[in-house]
Amino acid sequence: MSVMEPILPVVVIDSPDAAEGLGRALLAGGIRQVEVTLRTAEALPALRILASVPGLRAGAGTVLTADQVHAAVEAGAEFVVSPGLDEGVVAACQRYGVPAIPGVVTATELMRARSLGLRTVKFFPAEQAGGVAAVSALSAVFADMAFVPTGGIGADRAAVYAALPSVVAVGGSWMVPRDAVASGQFARIEALCRQAVEVFQ
Ligand code: 3PG
Repeated sequence: MSVMEPILPVVVIDSPDAAEGLGRALLAGGIRQVEVTLRTAEALPALRILASVPGLRAGAGTVLTADQVHAAVEAGAEFVVSPGLDEGVVAACQRYGVPAIPGVVTATELMRARSLGLRTVKFFPAEQAGGVAAVSALSAVFADMAFVPTGGIGADRAAVYAALPSVVAVGGSWMVPRDAVASGQFARIEALCRQAVEVFQ
C-alpha cells in the first residue's frame, strides 16, 4: 500500500450515525484515510458510510478472519489491517485485490509476511513491543519492508516514528478518541487531526 498518507486514524465506532460527521471532520482536519476497526456491532455499517465519503479512503481494522475480509470488502474497504499475521486473511485480501496490512513484531513474523508477498506491515503494539528502536532495528535487516507502527502512540511520539525512512504511516486513535466519536464532538476531532497533520509537516 504505497500510496498511504502519513497518518492512519484507527477508529472504534459505536454507531453508524457518527460516520458521516467523522468522515467530514477527518477531511476538514487534513486526513484522507481511516481504519474502521471491526470491534463493534455497528462497525460494518459505519465502514460502508465512511467508504462512501468522497475523498476519503476507508479500510477495515481488527480483521481476524477471511469471512471478515469478505464483509469488509463488500462494505467498501480499500485496505485491511489485522493485529497479527493470518495466512487465510492475507489470501482473502489477495483474492479481492485489497492490500493486507498484518501486524508483526518479530523478525520471524516479518519473514512470513514477506514470503506471502507483502511489503507493508503494521508494527503492533508499537510502543509496548520496542518502539522506535525496534522498528529501526528491523528496518536495517528488511530493507524492502515498509512499516505502519501502531499501538500506544500519541501525538508526542508520532513524529519520531515518522522520521524513520521505513515508516510509511503512523497509526493510532489519538486523533479520534472513542468518546469524541460517540458523542459527536467533530470539531474536537477536526482540531486533533489538524494538530496531527502539523506534526508531520
Ligand atoms: C489498533 O487497533 O491498532 C490500536 O488499538 C490502536 O492503537 P492506539 O489506540 O493505542 O492508538
